[in-house]
Amino acid sequence: MSAPLLEVRGLRVGFPRAGGLRHVVAGIDYALSPGRTLGVVGESGCGKSMTALALMGLVPPPGRAEGSIRFDGRELIGQSAAEWRALRGNRIAMVFQEPMTALNPVMPVGAQIAEVQVLHKHLGWKEAGENAVAMLEAVGINSPRERARAYPHQLSGGMRQRAMIAMALACEPALLVADEPTTALDVTIQAQILDLMLELQDRIGMAIQFISHNLAVVSEIAHEIIVMYAGRIVERAPADALFANPRHPYTQGLIATLPDPEQRVARLPVIPGGVPDLDAGARGCRFADRCALADAGCRAAEPPAEEIAPGHFAACFKAAA
Ligand SMILES: Nc1ncnc2c1ncn2[C@@H]1O[C@H](COP(=O)(O)OP(=O)(O)OP(=O)(O)O)[C@@H](O)[C@H]1O
Ligand code: SF4
Ligand SMILES: [Mg+2]
Repeated sequence: MSAPLLEVRGLRVGFPRAGGLRHVVAGIDYALSPGRTLGVVGESGCGKSMTALALMGLVPPPGRAEGSIRFDGRELIGQSAAEWRALRGNRIAMVFQEPMTALNPVMPVGAQIAEVQVLHKHLGWKEAGENAVAMLEAVGINSPRERARAYPHQLSGGMRQRAMIAMALACEPALLVADEPTTALDVTIQAQILDLMLELQDRIGMAIQFISHNLAVVSEIAHEIIVMYAGRIVERAPADALFANPRHPYTQGLIATLPDPEQRVARLPVIPGGVPDLDAGARGCRFADRCALADAGCRAAEPPAEEIAPGHFAACFKAAA
């Protein structure tokens, strides 16, 4: 396998609160190589979007990211604002959960997509404008030439989402971070957009970090999967191994609750209980209150991630086969 494009070590995202920081991402490690897709799953509030925003230098203040994010051999944590701006929408692009975060309300969407190519690929406006229309068509927008002239508020939510995807792909990034990119779209369009991402991945070797509630969608495209719970990675494994031999009780629960993968409607989770307040007296396994196997040992110390098979990590005292 080629050298990693992205190496995340001990990444934490903290927000100040009385008495210290509340870590919504609490020390995670993973790596991603060119041409590979990493799926990130876990229920609402477990830190998926904060991890993604940390990669973009966009953790909302007063939150801050600490630890190490190496991209293309370079440390991103501690970069200047100008260095982040040069990277974003160029070498790293993100599709946000909320499209209005990424779209400029006072510029037609076609011009926004074209601008990415003018700024980062040094194309002329005419060629970039034609490419923008082609991109809108590729993400399934009808009458793309007319739509290109529309402002974001003139488009439906689903169309805005697709315009943002077109913009992220237009710069042909080395790393695409896609946060629930297709959740709001109908199944046919979802499939079309996944195909488009994979086609670009094939062509330019783009790495994809794909975040989704939907384990069924993730399983279709990810080479490797990270399962997050309460700010930690509880399991990380090649996709096949994760499904064939899930070792963490939380992952086992997620897989057990999956309906027929063909339905692609799985919403996580149906495991009883909720995510604990992060760092609330943080001692012991964060999943203990919902785990059928929990014992006194689980509540006494936090289980470290152990490599239980090559490339297969789980953070559970009882994960060893
Ligand atoms: N601006 C903020 N200030 C403080 N805490 C925040 C802020 N934004 C998010 N959080 C907290 O960070 C935690 C992780 O949120 P995050 O958005 O990463 O979750 P997620 O896994 O993406 O969830 P979802 O599946 O709902 O998108 C949550 O507990 C959330 O309440
Ligand atoms: S460490 Fe204990 S409580 Fe945590 S997931 Fe494993 S068995 Fe359950
Ligand atoms: Mg999110």
